[in-house]
Amino acid sequence: MSGAQKLPVAEQAENPRVGEHGALSCGRALSFSRQTHDDLERLLARYPTKQAALLPTLWLAQREWGWISREAVDYVATLLDLSPAFVWGVVTFYTMYNRAPVGTHLIQFCTSISCHLNGAGEAYAECRKRLGDLKPGETTPDGKFTVVEVECLAQCDKAPAVMVNDDDHFVITKDKLDAFLGSLK
Ligand code: FES
Repeated sequence: MSGAQKLPVAEQAENPRVGEHGALSCGRALSFSRQTHDDLERLLARYPTKQAALLPTLWLAQREWGWISREAVDYVATLLDLSPAFVWGVVTFYTMYNRAPVGTHLIQFCTSISCHLNGAGEAYAECRKRLGDLKPGETTPDGKFTVVEVECLAQCDKAPAVMVNDDDHFVITKDKLDAFLGSLK
């Protein structure tokens, strides 16, 4: 088992840290779409303080832009009257927030114990190999696939378990990769 590699996508891909709080820059100013603004308004009405709504607001940001850039950190901080350093501290506490751009399909292989014992390590390595010898956390040149290793996905009885974006996939062994990858086109 290679638990030492179970890092957020930016670190798995060895992206450099930049910016005053270590976040990568997307190189442009950001603001939510009208739809996401409306979702945020509904969200804020359900929480006692703006700070309490930080986690779901970051989810909205990730839904909107795919990852949490330096500009997204600053934008969310302004929206919620928080400091960028506080927001970045929360982003870096949770591995589910992408700290670098990811492909259209973010393929997350669980390699914790049940999945490991059922061939997750082989499937994970083979998947990266088939997509062009990707390093952990790397994205294919066409921007379609990013492959990372994650901790238990709470689907241990269907090991090896894989999550693609928000969808669960079960029993993804090496010999099932053709069908699995084919289903993601
Ligand atoms: S060990 Fe893989 S889902 Fe739990």
